[in-house]
Amino acid sequence: MFISSVRYLCGTYILTEDEHFGSFLFEVSFYTIIRTLSVNKGVNLYDGVAYDKSSQTQYTQGNKLVSNTNVFDDDSILDVGCGNGKTTIELFKKNRNVKIDAFDLSDSQIEIAVKNRNKNGISEKEINFFSYDAFDISYNDKYSLIFSNATLHWITKSEEMYTKIFKALKYGGRIAIHQGGKGSYYGLHEVVVHAIANLELTKYFENWEYPIFYPSKFEMENMLTKIGFTDINIESVKTDGKEYANLKENFMNASFHPYLDKLPSKYHEELKKEYLRVCESEMVDTYSHRLYIYAKKGYSAK
Ligand SMILES: C[S@@+](CC[C@H](N)C(=O)[O-])C[C@H]1O[C@@H](n2cnc3c(N)ncnc32)[C@H](O)[C@@H]1O
Repeated sequence: MFISSVRYLCGTYILTEDEHFGSFLFEVSFYTIIRTLSVNKGVNLYDGVAYDKSSQTQYTQGNKLVSNTNVFDDDSILDVGCGNGKTTIELFKKNRNVKIDAFDLSDSQIEIAVKNRNKNGISEKEINFFSYDAFDISYNDKYSLIFSNATLHWITKSEEMYTKIFKALKYGGRIAIHQGGKGSYYGLHEVVVHAIANLELTKYFENWEYPIFYPSKFEMENMLTKIGFTDINIESVKTDGKEYANLKENFMNASFHPYLDKLPSKYHEELKKEYLRVCESEMVDTYSHRLYIYAKKGYSAK
């Protein structure tokens, strides 16, 4: 009864991943990873205050991306989906001669980002934070570096999104992007599905697919090649997630948004509570798969 109701909610899905260094198979019983045709307008937006308190995982991932990204004096930089701005600030600290434009869909994230910038004694001329939807960008040949941490998997029209980024780059410009890869956090999604079933809320999720773009390394390489990127270098990092001490809580403040968006607000806190209870009472698989993506538009020495 329990299993069938969960399967009714999300179906059974076999997830195969083919990569250059072999292939492997996950059987994911409760979670489908599907690309849908919508973008995230109208979703339950990130709460800046909650995210600032509980986003250590994303900050750790962002620091890895920053440490692998060169920042040159003459760089013009765009950060897509800057959140609370802490990763943007780390990028800026690599070379204080640059100017960064950084935007996020959530106004409350931007409010916190401005506070974090001010606390660090950085001016608006150095990092310009503003609210914007990534899918609306229409820049041409403007930036020499487009940076994005833990955001672009939210934009499910992925080829269009990455094409907009390509257009926004100057010739010789480059991207440094971290996003989720195929199967990431499937065990944590499984816990949410259990929690939804335990609370008898499955009716709100009938025929629904979780909106995320989690490609394999191979799929990402193909897409970037098709768009015209050169010098593509993608690091695919698959782990048990144990390196992220706060992953379960951080996941709740980020990946819960599409679930909450489907539920009447009176159930939001109940679902979070039940998720945390299930996390405590069961062995949770915190499998994580992240992609660190570097590529260029055209050719350059940088
Ligand atoms: C996990 S947070 C990462 C934030 C930040 N980059 C960091 O390193 O902490 C994902 C962010 O993507 C933003 N986001 C989601 N969809 C977006 C969109 N369409 N346009 C701009 N930002 C978006 C969310 O508001 C959220 O702040």
